[in-house]
Amino acid sequence: MIDLTGIPIGEVVKKSGLRHIAFIMDGNGRWATAKGQPREFGHRAGAANFKTIVRYCKKIGIECCTVYAFSTENIKRPKREVEAIMTLLINYIAEAGDERDIEFKFIGDAFGLGENIGKKCAGLEKETEGRPYRLNIALNYGGRAEIVQAVNRLILEKKQSITEEDISSHLYTAGCPEPDLIVRTGNEQRISNFLTWQSTYSEFHFSPKMWPDYTTDDVDFAVRDFAGRGRRWGGV
Ligand code: IPE
Ligand code: IPE
Ligand code: MG
Repeated sequence: MIDLTGIPIGEVVKKSGLRHIAFIMDGNGRWATAKGQPREFGHRAGAANFKTIVRYCKKIGIECCTVYAFSTENIKRPKREVEAIMTLLINYIAEAGDERDIEFKFIGDAFGLGENIGKKCAGLEKETEGRPYRLNIALNYGGRAEIVQAVNRLILEKKQSITEEDISSHLYTAGCPEPDLIVRTGNEQRISNFLTWQSTYSEFHFSPKMWPDYTTDDVDFAVRDFAGRGRRWGGV
């Protein structure tokens, strides 16, 4: 194994072959509750931190970043909380086109959250198409739902039998390398229906920090941890 101590983080990214990082941005609610604040307060802080972390991943040369913003199951939450998250999202979309070099892609069923949100997401995707760094925002996303929609599209294409490549190319993430590293904050160690198909050989990194407290130094720590792993993909 190469010793990467003291090597600048951009070099570590390159040497380790880390092209796609994904974040399960968990812990906003508990972060707010611990401060005696409503959960919405945590989502606001989490949204601000998301911008910092995404910009940093781009800066250190990671080509593709995926963030879990809202799962298909999160709709079960109280209406007030869901509305607060959607308002943050709409405000973010309004300014996001100014993020330099980022191509946005919403993975999940954005239109399932309403015509208004769906159209705004599609508009941002169109506006930023072809930019060099890809940001996938998982919104109304479920890993199983993603596989089901892929299979349904293949049925519409009248496929009689399908290959793994057929499924991969019909996922929302088509065109991205599979996630090399999946980071979950919020002190939970589970996948919660995230990137079910794509994560077969991903490395996992769990942080005890709540998402609003997660820093760029923590990203460095996760990246260096990743770089020290021995990936074998079933080989020797
Ligand atoms: C993650 O934080 C953000 C969303 C799921 C939208 P949580 O809201 O799940 O925060 P905790 O896990 O309850 O602390
Ligand atoms: C996963 O977090 C979804 C997002 C971070 C958007 P949850 O808070 O919904 O996951 P569980 O319920 O703890 O598994
Ligand atoms: Mg949570």
